Amino acid sequence: MSCQKKLFDGKVVLITGSSSGIGRATALTFAGLGAKVVITARNDIKLDEVVQSAQLISESNDNILKVKADLNVRQDIEILINKTISTFGKLDVLVNNAGIVGITDIEDKDMEKTFNNIMNTNVGSIVRLCHLAVPHLKKTKGNIVSVSSVASTKPHSLFFGYCMAKSCVDMLTKCLAIDLGNSGIRVNTVNPAVIRTNIFKAGFNFSEEETQRNIYRDCEQTYPLQRPGEPEEVAETIAFLASDKASFISGTTLEVDGGSMWTSRGANPNNNS
Ligand SMILES: NC(=O)c1ccc[n+]([C@@H]2O[C@H](COP(=O)([O-])OP(=O)(O)OC[C@H]3O[C@@H](n4cnc5c(N)ncnc54)[C@H](OP(=O)(O)O)[C@@H]3O)[C@@H](O)[C@H]2O)c1
Repeated sequence: MSCQKKLFDGKVVLITGSSSGIGRATALTFAGLGAKVVITARNDIKLDEVVQSAQLISESNDNILKVKADLNVRQDIEILINKTISTFGKLDVLVNNAGIVGITDIEDKDMEKTFNNIMNTNVGSIVRLCHLAVPHLKKTKGNIVSVSSVASTKPHSLFFGYCMAKSCVDMLTKCLAIDLGNSGIRVNTVNPAVIRTNIFKAGFNFSEEETQRNIYRDCEQTYPLQRPGEPEEVAETIAFLASDKASFISGTTLEVDGGSMWTSRGANPNNNS
């Protein structure tokens, strides 16, 4: 066992959507930095894999708590916060990472169902979680990091639902930074561009492999760094914003995007050239 003090020793960090992708990488990053980590999502099998991986990294199995929860179910969100507090006694960092994508075509008759689902999962659940978490974050002078997207400021054709949802996350962050600053709570977002995860499998007309191949090829052709990002690169940025190293940063939306914000367009799933 290492005696060296780690950045998040004694801190309690809750990461939504930690069964895969960016959330999984973030859970493992915080576990490696000494935190007590709450791992939560809907898929039990995937959650168990992340819990086992986190326990291998963490100094104690007791530092890892799994809570199966659907963030679209109000009661699940209450249980998530209550279990965190009853197990670890406090909350220092809330990472609002869970999110979904989906095509929203304004002329599609089923568009509203997809739109409502995106807004509820990507925005409504964050508002509810923050509402329940803030009293606990006030006690620890903790902070909130939400996972937004470059799509919050860069419009994408057929993705108005997702783009709108991420705009909401940015604005919520800025407003809460103002409201909660005098309680010592910082509130920030990371805004990734395309990151290599399974998120693109949902809601596209292509096969999973085809969609990912097209999107990643587009990144290689259009991003200044000529590649998509990796989940660990976002996780490290989240950990930075959540740490005391970022003690004077609040209300910030920080791009993790390989420079892609400064190119004329983002990655395009229709690029099969
Ligand atoms: N990958 C990218 O290119 C990219 C770019 C910009 C922003 N982002 C954002 O990054 C975040 C993470 O996405 P990812 O790329 O890591 O995708 P991912 O691998 O699909 O992970 C999404 C996570 O959200 C969870 N989730 C979805 N709906 C949920 C619900 N109703 N209740 C509880 N958990 C739910 C999923 O878990 P279960 O299915 O097990 O519930 C999963 O753990 C999202 O907010 C996404 O918008 C991703």
